[in-house]
Amino acid sequence: MHVLTVLDHPDPNAFSAAIARQFMAGAHEAGHSTELADLHAEGFDPRWTMADVRGTPTPGSDIALEQARIARADAICLVFPLYWWGMPAMTKGWVDRVWSWGWAYDQLDDPDRSLQRTRSGVLLVPAGARSDEIEARGYGAALDTAWMAGTFGYFGLSPRRIELLCGSTGSEARRAALLDRSFEVGRTLPQPGS
Ligand SMILES: Cc1cc2nc3c(=O)[nH]c(=O)nc-3n(C[C@H](O)[C@H](O)[C@H](O)COP(=O)(O)O)c2cc1C
Repeated sequence: MHVLTVLDHPDPNAFSAAIARQFMAGAHEAGHSTELADLHAEGFDPRWTMADVRGTPTPGSDIALEQARIARADAICLVFPLYWWGMPAMTKGWVDRVWSWGWAYDQLDDPDRSLQRTRSGVLLVPAGARSDEIEARGYGAALDTAWMAGTFGYFGLSPRRIELLCGSTGSEARRAALLDRSFEVGRTLPQPGS
C-alpha cells in the first residue's frame, strides 16, 4: 500500500513528530511505501477563506495538491496532539478545506457513504491525560462519535480507528511504550475495506 502520514506539529523534535516517524517506520517494515505531509513545515494555511466558500479548487492550488496526495494513498494516518478534546487548528483546517463537499462527500445521512474510494485510516493522537481520566468523563466516547461516526466515514476511511496515546507527557517508559505502539500500528495497518 501507499501510506500517507499527515503530521500536525510545529516542532520537529516534538513527541508527535516522533510518533509519526515510528508509525512510518512500521509501515515501511511491512513493505508499504510512505509519504509525509508535514503541514507546519510545508506552511499549509488552515484558514477557511472565500476561495473555499466558492468551492472547486483551481489546478495547482494548495487544496488541489493536497487532494492529489490523498488520491495516490491507499491508507492515511493523521498524527496530531489532542488540544481541548479536539483537533488543533492546523488539522481542523486541513480537514475542513481539503475534504470538501463534492469531492469527499455530498450528503450527510450515511456516515459510511463517501465519494472517495475506500482507504484504510488511523488517527494517532498523543494526549496528556491518563486513560482513566479520559474514560471517567466519557471523552473517549465523545471523540469516537465525533470522529469515527461524524467525520472519517464520510471520507471513505474504512476500517478506521483512533489510537489515543494517553499519558504522552508522562514518564520516559510511558513515552517509549507509546512509540512502540505507533510502530506496531504502522506495521499491522489493515488493507482498505478489510
Ligand atoms: C493548547 C493545548 C491544549 C491541550 N488540551 C488537551 C486536552 O484537551 N486533553 C489532553 O489530554 N491533553 C491536552 N493537551 C496536552 C497535549 O495533548 C500534550 O501536551 C501533547 O500530546 C504532547 O505532545 P507533543 O509533545 O507532540 O506536543 C493540550 C496541550 C495544549 C498545548
